[in-house]
Amino acid sequence: MNLNFKEAIHYQKKKPLNQVIFIIGVSGVGKSTVGQLLSDELSIPYFDGDDFHSEENIAKMSSGQPLNDEDREGWLIAINKFASKKLAHNSFIIACSALKQKYREILQSGMERNVNWVHLFGSFDQIFERINSRSDHFMSSELLQSQFDILEDPINALQINVNLTPEEIVQTIKSEMGIKSQFGLFGLGVMGKSLCRNLSRNGFKISMFNRHVEGVEENIAQDFKAGHPELSHAVPFDDIAAFVDSLQRPRKIMLMVNAGNTVDLVIENLLPHLSKNDILIDGGNSNYVKTNERVEYLKTKNIHFIGAGVSGGENGALTGPSIMPSGSKEGYKNIESFLGAVAAKDQNNLPCCTYIGPEGSGHFVKMVHNGIEYVEMQLLAEIGSILAAQGQNQNEIANTLESWKDTTNSYLLEITINIFRKKEGEDWLLKKILDKAGNKGTGNWTTIASAQLGVPSTLIAAALFARYTSFNKEERIVHSENFSKTKKIITDIDLDEIRDAYQFARIINHYQGFKLLDAASISFSWDLNLSEIARIWTNGCIIKSTLMEELVPVLSNTNNILINQHFRALINQYKPAIKIVVAQSIANEIAVPCLSESVQFFNGITRANSSANIIQAQRDYFGAHTYKRIDDDSGKNYHTNWN
Ligand code: 6PG
Repeated sequence: MNLNFKEAIHYQKKKPLNQVIFIIGVSGVGKSTVGQLLSDELSIPYFDGDDFHSEENIAKMSSGQPLNDEDREGWLIAINKFASKKLAHNSFIIACSALKQKYREILQSGMERNVNWVHLFGSFDQIFERINSRSDHFMSSELLQSQFDILEDPINALQINVNLTPEEIVQTIKSEMGIKSQFGLFGLGVMGKSLCRNLSRNGFKISMFNRHVEGVEENIAQDFKAGHPELSHAVPFDDIAAFVDSLQRPRKIMLMVNAGNTVDLVIENLLPHLSKNDILIDGGNSNYVKTNERVEYLKTKNIHFIGAGVSGGENGALTGPSIMPSGSKEGYKNIESFLGAVAAKDQNNLPCCTYIGPEGSGHFVKMVHNGIEYVEMQLLAEIGSILAAQGQNQNEIANTLESWKDTTNSYLLEITINIFRKKEGEDWLLKKILDKAGNKGTGNWTTIASAQLGVPSTLIAAALFARYTSFNKEERIVHSENFSKTKKIITDIDLDEIRDAYQFARIINHYQGFKLLDAASISFSWDLNLSEIARIWTNGCIIKSTLMEELVPVLSNTNNILINQHFRALINQYKPAIKIVVAQSIANEIAVPCLSESVQFFNGITRANSSANIIQAQRDYFGAHTYKRIDDDSGKNYHTNWN
């Protein structure tokens, strides 16, 4: 009796994670023999899928006619219904040919987390001989061939060659499913650790790896396990080969390592130990271009690579992040139940995780998430400066922001309120924090990508450059002495106007962010679902907000938020406020790059006739770059001899 298997299947907390083991394969591979033996070994029931056929199917088969997909559908649904009910009580085994992927999808529908596939395989000749050597059995080679013809190799199954004896097959299944872990986490930094705990709390049996660096990183995985009771079933490693070997096949390994070359190094270190159809998930903030390359590269090695943006920071990773996976769709199907279980849940209790699209689209989407995040953060910083210039102390600023929560709540607003309130001793902590904003590069990449795609993501650029400006602390000190500020020249701004200006800029920020996603979707043929992206950003991530919730239905009808009537009305409502707030900030020499860029951009994008005709004339003047004329719609290029 394999106690580990029993432990694994009963350790589940959220749902009773009983397991169903489907033993599949063409006729004659020995499904029933193996199923029965395994049932005895594990003391769990065994069922033969053939017992679920309708009378019509039985009559058809008895008359020698093969079943078609339509006949099979009802049969598969019957097995699925039976299994779903049975799962509430215990684990069990079902033998069923399940040769096509769509059959397997019906069989596992609604219980993806509980299903384990074991595919017994062999060559045609091997199986033909096996069947016909049995005294009570004969199968024509045509009939067997027809099964081989429709067999779609299950990528997510434990593949076992029928060369082995039934006893050996059962031992292989027991050791793979009983002792081996379902999921591997590589890299136990802050995010990796939180995800391990989240996976374990969701009842998954995981293996955890952290490298061994003498005197620097020693026994990280072991110590981590020891410090957290919820990891009692997790297995710690600092040896790559042993870590990989501890995982059920196809192996599912999530890399939580620093973006950049480290990801490539880790992939190269893992590759010799991996097998066909294993799945690697990069959960870091990798550059989408690198993810595009890695998806392609790993295809050549028969490994499914998933680039998954993960947002929510340390706490999000622990309690439910927003996850943006892309790349191998086949691979994704195998990890969907893991990511879905650990992800945050939206208002309808659906996971804030969805397959984003091919290549590095998931990391692109995460990158734009961060671009929007940069702007949201910068806007709150600018609002803080304006309120401070109005004479509010930190507590008052926090109270003002607190009063906005009813109309415009967001995670970033909430944490900013807490930040303003935080004291260290008698003084505000914020006053002691050096005003040089750091960054890890995603805002930079978003700005580069916008420029490459020809999309004016001007607020993201403004937020990024505001961070760069802040970084020049020494120069700022010099200039602040040389260019003394004018005295306050304008009366206080109404607090409601400041809030409305903030709202205006946030709408423009989200408009620009989703326009950038739309442009990338078209340019890279990614077919991004913007509404679904907004949905998975309604919880778990840093930019979750009530505004994001409002955008979900809007983006299912348009990719352009400003076309939507409700948002048009809001923009018109907030427009007077943004003009006053920006004008007065400039007059009072308060730097508000994002607030002001929101209205500048708005003024540009809402003008039917712009000043770009002057630019065209200038280009033609000095460079003979030509221009088009509004009184000629043929598209012809004109050049003028300006002298
Ligand atoms: C998140 C965050 C997270 C992190 C980034 C941004 O969604 O959880 O975006 O990914 O905060 O690293 O970092 P920088 O501000 O340092 O660029």
